[in-house]
Amino acid sequence: MKILSIIGARPQFVKEAIVQSEINKNQDIKEVVIHTGQHYDDNMSGVFFDVLEMKEPEYNLGVQASNHGEMTGKMLIELEKVMIREKPDIVLLYGDTNSTLAGAIAASKLKIKIAHVEAGLRQKEPKYIPEEINRILTDSISNYLFVPSNLAVENLNEEGIYEGIYFTGDVMYDIFLKMKPKFDYSLMDELKLKENQFIMMTMHRDFNVDKKEKLEKILKEIDKVSKEIKVVYPIHPRTKKRIIEFGLEKLIKNITIIEPIDYLQLMGLTEKCYKAITDSGGYQKETYFAGKQAIVIMPDTGWKELVDLGFNTLVDENDIYDKIMEDCKVEYIKNIYGNGKAATKIVNILKDSKSK
Ligand code: UD1
Repeated sequence: MKILSIIGARPQFVKEAIVQSEINKNQDIKEVVIHTGQHYDDNMSGVFFDVLEMKEPEYNLGVQASNHGEMTGKMLIELEKVMIREKPDIVLLYGDTNSTLAGAIAASKLKIKIAHVEAGLRQKEPKYIPEEINRILTDSISNYLFVPSNLAVENLNEEGIYEGIYFTGDVMYDIFLKMKPKFDYSLMDELKLKENQFIMMTMHRDFNVDKKEKLEKILKEIDKVSKEIKVVYPIHPRTKKRIIEFGLEKLIKNITIIEPIDYLQLMGLTEKCYKAITDSGGYQKETYFAGKQAIVIMPDTGWKELVDLGFNTLVDENDIYDKIMEDCKVEYIKNIYGNGKAATKIVNILKDSKSK
């Protein structure tokens, strides 16, 4: 059996790493990996392959573009060529990026079966964000929908999708457990951090950073926070670009800004932080795996379970400071995203599909 896995952005490297290690346990499956090139800086891409012990992708399409249409279109052209050459039985896709959608469109037109890891997530607000469009379209043409939560099943049912849904749990929980013994705490000393005395922050979503007024408000709130407790922020290239373009550099002078860090470093700091601030789909869940609460700068999230539990709090640009300073004790409930065996289940289901 041949699986063609398509990845392109940071969160997909993390998910692919654990599925790839499961695939490698099966001699009868050949996996070919395509990196679309969406994330290309070494600290956004190459370093992940090293620390997550992944093979070099067989193909790197080198697609970079600033507009969504151009990016998705170029990926579609190149992905189709590789699919025609490789003739896979299944195309394996992850999450909600432009690389996911391009892979789904290319495969469906060639009548190749599509498996979508992290299917069924929905975020109703803000409306029509690129990730939501990518999710809905990809799920609507996928044959295997590997869902991480009960809510994801409900979301698919609401859209009239009942077939091909497999509740597997979350592959990001699998990789967290697998890599935990290797988490890297070296930045604690380098940045002179003390356990439970700093906030870990990530922020990059277009709806938060692409408009000057909103980004300015968010940074003012973070600046207020950073006067009370140290804030560590590995900055995403999109946000860095916008801060410079909008001339907002003065608002980040109290924040400990560092370049993007690798998975093991990020998880190391997350285990030691007091709380987190984020707008990342994946990171708001990794903080939970590490037992830390997150203030999530989003009007809605695909991971509502954590909000319902009281573990994560959704905020807007006006109440970041108040919410992060609130002392709120919530019990940590284990296993809401499966038992750490999601990747094994996914590979077994794909293997079985071949014999049918
Ligand atoms: C993408 C995903 C988002 C995911 C995020 C993880 C889409 C629609 N969005 O958003 O869902 O949460 O990845 O990080 O697919 N850039 C660099 N170096 C890099 C990568 C990007 O400088 O290595 C620049 C790009 O040139 C671009 C900007 O950063 O100007 C944004 O990159 P892009 O891949 O378009 O989207 P992300 O914001 O990373």
